[in-house]
Amino acid sequence: MRGIVLKDKVLMEMVGLQNFLNRSIFGFVFFAMCFAVPQRTLAREGMWIPATLASREANMKLEGLTIPVKDIYNEDGTGLNNAIVLFGRGCTGELISGKGLLLTNHHCGYGSAQRLSSTDKDYFSYGYWAMKPEEELPCQGLTVTFIRKMADVTDRVLKGLPDTLNDKTRDSIAMKRITAIEEEYRKQSGYDATVKPFYQSNQYWVILSETFSDIRLVGFPPNGIGKFGGDAENWVWPRHTGDFSIFRVYAGAGNKPANYDKANKPYESGRFFHINTSGVKEGDFTMVYGFPGTTDEYAYSGRLRQVTGIIDPIAIQARTIRLDVWNKHAAADRAVFLKYTAKNAGIANGWKKWKGELEGLELNKVMDKKIAYEKKFQKWADKQTDLPFANDLLNQFKNETGGVDTLMYMDMYNRETVMGIELVQQSALLDKALGCLRLPLSDSALADTLKKLVAGADGFYKNYDLPTDKDEFTALMTLYAAHMKGKMPVALEAIYKSFGGDIAKWADFVFAGSLAANPVLLQQLSGWKPGDSVRIQNDPAWQIWHAVSQASAEKIAPGLSRYSANLRYLNRLYLEAQMKFETEKSFYPDANLTLRLTYGKVSAMSPDKKTHYPFQTTLDDIIAVDDPQKEDFRVPEKLKDLYLKKDFGRWADNGKIPVAFIAANHTSGGNSGSPILNTRGELIGTNFDRAYEGTMSDYYFDPNRCRNISVDIRYTLFIVEKFGGAGWLLNEMEFAK
Ligand code: ARG
Ligand code: GLU
Repeated sequence: MRGIVLKDKVLMEMVGLQNFLNRSIFGFVFFAMCFAVPQRTLAREGMWIPATLASREANMKLEGLTIPVKDIYNEDGTGLNNAIVLFGRGCTGELISGKGLLLTNHHCGYGSAQRLSSTDKDYFSYGYWAMKPEEELPCQGLTVTFIRKMADVTDRVLKGLPDTLNDKTRDSIAMKRITAIEEEYRKQSGYDATVKPFYQSNQYWVILSETFSDIRLVGFPPNGIGKFGGDAENWVWPRHTGDFSIFRVYAGAGNKPANYDKANKPYESGRFFHINTSGVKEGDFTMVYGFPGTTDEYAYSGRLRQVTGIIDPIAIQARTIRLDVWNKHAAADRAVFLKYTAKNAGIANGWKKWKGELEGLELNKVMDKKIAYEKKFQKWADKQTDLPFANDLLNQFKNETGGVDTLMYMDMYNRETVMGIELVQQSALLDKALGCLRLPLSDSALADTLKKLVAGADGFYKNYDLPTDKDEFTALMTLYAAHMKGKMPVALEAIYKSFGGDIAKWADFVFAGSLAANPVLLQQLSGWKPGDSVRIQNDPAWQIWHAVSQASAEKIAPGLSRYSANLRYLNRLYLEAQMKFETEKSFYPDANLTLRLTYGKVSAMSPDKKTHYPFQTTLDDIIAVDDPQKEDFRVPEKLKDLYLKKDFGRWADNGKIPVAFIAANHTSGGNSGSPILNTRGELIGTNFDRAYEGTMSDYYFDPNRCRNISVDIRYTLFIVEKFGGAGWLLNEMEFAK
């Protein structure tokens, strides 16, 4: 299957119908009453490749878009794509001035703020606002990537390769072609060039990009705003979080990417978002433009069964325990809080999302729907001759997915329990040292290598608290022992038994005796000689790491990687067949951290028949949930003052400051920080989350339950100007009339 045609016959017909109906003022009501089409066919589902938007233009205009799609993306460098970046490794950000000013989420800037924070510069408590350019703080290691252009190179990558060619051969031929294509585009354009697979490797696109690495922190609200509601409100609507932060992109000579240099200048961009502060109302058309990370919308039912039966439940169970321990220690000691807050947010984030996912998949009976779909698919496949492989696909899927449950179960427990203990993770370093000690190196080369290795460990201890981790060990190993009876690696079981199954005693021994638990002793490792290998082999944390890694490498990983390779092959053929099976449907590729556009309408939600949630929250709602006793719900005094004095500047709407709003956009992890745009492509907010009831949209999008959550741009600007006192930043922004 080459050059997939995104057919949209049904929708094209509806455009015609809608144009006709629009002539009557009752048109819309009439339309809605007479044609109660299920919303799914309105194609709010989907994360589209920007370069293919022409095929969706009619539908987007029907839904409300007023600008040509070529303003959103085009090949001549003037598209809005030039105002969007992949922020760090997994978020999105957008330019809001011609001088590199960049808006993203608070939780996306969290790691950078943490690296710049200390107990006397606690940006989580007090926030950070640069009052002039010299106060913008360099963020080591942070990069942003612009997507300049993309092109479909499917034909070149797959030319002459039969569909059913095995992946090994197919990949090796494709890889050679891909390398040549990348090289060619790189030379021709001067940009970085990467070819990425789409539609389960049925399509390939080359993506031309530019990565900047001098990024500086400009504005970061305190957690009382940026993380307000904490994990209790994470993935929840209604929401009260001002989840935004502001950075600036700096460039070197010629406005080109350069490493940090004091002399670098703000990056000048011809494209940045104009801001619209007129607000949103129910039914408004919106778009979210950013980098969704992973979805699996076309999965075989057996794969879904693994997610709901093994993967999600084990992760949730282990993380519940992990978070309890961390939270207990963080609540007792601010220093521990500071060390663990970023790690904690990451672990908690997945934990809650998967809980929502399980509930949503269950409530929507997604498994039943998949099975029913597969029945129809099979009937079609049995009869059709174009794709002779199609009729055996489901059968093969069944064999594949049926065979790996136990491996997957063990793998999940290994990862989420033993390997979740930080000291055990850190023992990987000892293993590397052991590898060096065994190499035939000269004394000086060995000393050199070990020194470098040990020096790299410092970052770990900055954010490590031993008593916390030790409690974690006891809790997680107890869970592990209970669920891995008869499945533990032999070497580990022997150690466990040597403590008579007393895990607390085992913890005492490990945390008192391991080199990894003692950064001072660890430093001495750089002077070790090959004869010292045995000291690592006797290290009690390394022994755990080693037992689990080895058993996993020998007994689990090979089976699982064979499985995922086979699944990849089947997924490719299955999607190809699905697209032939449902020719009327608009297929979009699963998320793969490439730039996508999704569109949907501002829309309140009633996840069950009883509750109704408005589409917007306001500062009044924040004040209403203020709770000085709870750290996550403590509204900063200054914000309360502004509220009491109604000192709202120009940001209020009917006397209220809007905070967050929801819309039915199909977003995913990675869309954090994405611009949410109005019909004219103007910035109205920053996407930061999804509602709990709809997190299953990575597998199944239901427009009745799935909502993306955005910070209203007016709240952002109110906080910047009135709370942060950084009104100087507004001077470089453009406001739409
Ligand atoms: N749910 C948001 C997303 O998936 C992250 C929000 C971070 N905040 C938090 N309280 N953990 O990334
Ligand atoms: N918070 C998510 C992120 O970091 C976006 C929410 C989602 O997964 O939809 O990407």
